[in-house]
Amino acid sequence: MEDNFKGRRISLPTVPPDADLREVAGKLLESEKNVVIVGREGEDVQGYIDSKSIIKWLLMGDESAKVKARDVAVLIKDEDKIELSADIEEIVGRIGEHGDMPLFTSEGGNITGRISLPQILAEVTRIQSEEKQKRINIECFIDMLIDVIPFGIAVVSEEGEVQKANELARKIISENSIDDEEMRAIIKGDYRKIIKSKLGTYYKVEASFLRGANFVLIAFVDVSAEYALMERLQETQNEVETAFLVMLPDQRIEARLKSIVEYMDEYDESTGMIKITGIIEDGCYRHIVNMLKLLADALKQGLMELPGMEKNTLAQAIVLHDIGKVQPNLKVGDKVNPKEAFEKSFLHAYRGASLIKALYDDIDDKVYLLIKYHHHQETELPDDFPDYLLPMHRFFRLIDGLSAGITRRGSRVSMKVNGTRIYVKEESSFPPYNREIEIDVYTGSFVSLK
Ligand SMILES: [Fe+2]
Ligand SMILES: [Fe+2]
Repeated sequence: MEDNFKGRRISLPTVPPDADLREVAGKLLESEKNVVIVGREGEDVQGYIDSKSIIKWLLMGDESAKVKARDVAVLIKDEDKIELSADIEEIVGRIGEHGDMPLFTSEGGNITGRISLPQILAEVTRIQSEEKQKRINIECFIDMLIDVIPFGIAVVSEEGEVQKANELARKIISENSIDDEEMRAIIKGDYRKIIKSKLGTYYKVEASFLRGANFVLIAFVDVSAEYALMERLQETQNEVETAFLVMLPDQRIEARLKSIVEYMDEYDESTGMIKITGIIEDGCYRHIVNMLKLLADALKQGLMELPGMEKNTLAQAIVLHDIGKVQPNLKVGDKVNPKEAFEKSFLHAYRGASLIKALYDDIDDKVYLLIKYHHHQETELPDDFPDYLLPMHRFFRLIDGLSAGITRRGSRVSMKVNGTRIYVKEESSFPPYNREIEIDVYTGSFVSLK
């Protein structure tokens, strides 16, 4: 860089202030420059004289003999000076402002010479070609990079025309015959989000606008692993549902359960109102499936080995317990007082138990009682409620609540059975519902751990 600074300026001849014009002309001829500085070594510069004004004065004949350099020197103002270390943009800007006026270089305010336009032009040209080379290198690098990255990537215009794409993106685009119109839909976000390749690979499509450019970056990310996992989960879910269907006593129960909706809501503590945020059309059916899964989990952990806990009684009660439920007709966005909008829970429990009795007169008493009192707290139970049913009643009410959280709030639930005690951790996307509890199905003790 130091060399560049030196190259920017040309040293100028200097004459003392009392030099006559012939001396000044001589200096100019000798130096082959067209400007001479007026001043003395070590003193402030007084100004400059250019060759045109020397010719003008000399043409005046005898008059010019009395004139000294200081008389005709043009004062060098601050705006005529530029620091030698100034960056190229500043120098070019100042030359533009000055037109063809001389621009002097200075170091710490002292004139050191005059700016060299050919050198500045050469420097500008060099910088420009360096920048161009850098751009070319970056483009080559990007070309190489996009071909090795493990996902499809394409740069498209806002009109959907592909400008650049790596091999994988080109393959996905051609295999799926994605034309400009479809590409515009991808950009707008109203396009299928997952694309399947001929080889069975799933790609998620994402569009992001490149800041400061009129282009959009389209990425095709391989989500086959997540998809396979999702499919496996779906299969498991289907298996559970098939197993559940087999358990159903008849199709009326299935149809009834699938017709009872469940609502997702947000509770406003200050008003006591809830706002409906979603409707799960077959909510009750899902609720039953989730309860059965919790029962299966407890069974696996040995809870059904306890005297008083019966898998078949619980499974039957689970399947049938909510068939008497009647939900209000609400839509997303409705704000209601839950105490007014929803029927009191014990009513559907009574209704359900009665319907079951009418449908299946040989229904087990334990199943009947569990259904009838599934919304009764222990203290509200009738005196003749058999004590031996209490462990199952406690467990039933526990998994009924947990399943509601899973079904309506997407909660994650984990249960750990330890003898007669069950430790439960519930995590919800709505933190106030998070809890950690431990209940004892024999004693009914309930401990809130968090
Ligand atoms: Fe219920
Ligand atoms: Fe329920």
